[in-house]
Amino acid sequence: MTATEVDAADLLALAEQVAREAGRLVVADRPRDLQVAATKTTATDIVTEMDRRSEQLVVDRISAARPDDGFLGEEGAARAGTSGVTWVVDPIDGTVNYLYGIPAYAVSIAASVDGQVVAGAVVNPVHGETWTALRGEGAWLDGQRLRISAPPPLHLALVATGFGYDARRRARQADVLGQVLPRVRDVRRFGAASLDLCAVACGRVDAYYEQGLKPWDLAAGGLVATEAGATVTGLRGRVAGEDLVVAAGPPLVTELVGLLEELDADSDPLA
Ligand code: IPD
Repeated sequence: MTATEVDAADLLALAEQVAREAGRLVVADRPRDLQVAATKTTATDIVTEMDRRSEQLVVDRISAARPDDGFLGEEGAARAGTSGVTWVVDPIDGTVNYLYGIPAYAVSIAASVDGQVVAGAVVNPVHGETWTALRGEGAWLDGQRLRISAPPPLHLALVATGFGYDARRRARQADVLGQVLPRVRDVRRFGAASLDLCAVACGRVDAYYEQGLKPWDLAAGGLVATEAGATVTGLRGRVAGEDLVVAAGPPLVTELVGLLEELDADSDPLA
């Protein structure tokens, strides 16, 4: 099956509807004494019962509508599917914010067809904001079309970034950040990669970069940023991925990529 044989607009409508419902669930059912249910790669890489419930809701709702589709979810949803459509799901992006009650977390759902993300929805349920994007058609915040304006030069740019959970990666990221900070207006660390990418799309920051993102961190927000006119890329001609994600409008993206290449920001301390 190819992207043209699937109605991406239908996939987007489903992604948006389910992301909103999951968002309502994580806000309404967040226990006052929310606990860490388990840890994953490190003691600080956490999962709560609400991450699991949100992912289950997403899988249930989408499977009911489209039983042949596959899933790739942060909390373990993994099904190959037979339709050519795979849903890439972060049931709560910004889990540490969620644990602490910081209102910067999101439900992120993307639909990919034969490996290409064609539709994505990112919902911040606390602020009631929904970003959507359809490949080749555009990106929207609460239905309003997004178009990034010409970004400033690097030394005047507000740059968001994030850090992984592994201490070796964090030490390397701190070294890189130490070199970036004196060359830009300022940096922000909001704590949810999907929202960082959406922030580029709606001009709340000029740029974003991070090493170590997983597909569910990148899929929906990456499409939102791209469709808003940003370039979302890796370093050294590679596509954006776990090595590095850089998102900004041209020509700022070229300046930032150049700096990050100089700093070897894509070298993997875990390799
Ligand atoms: C994390 C957040 C964070 C980013 C990490 C991600 P999670 O996702 O997006 O901002 O810096 O790289 O792993 O664990 O909260 O879903």
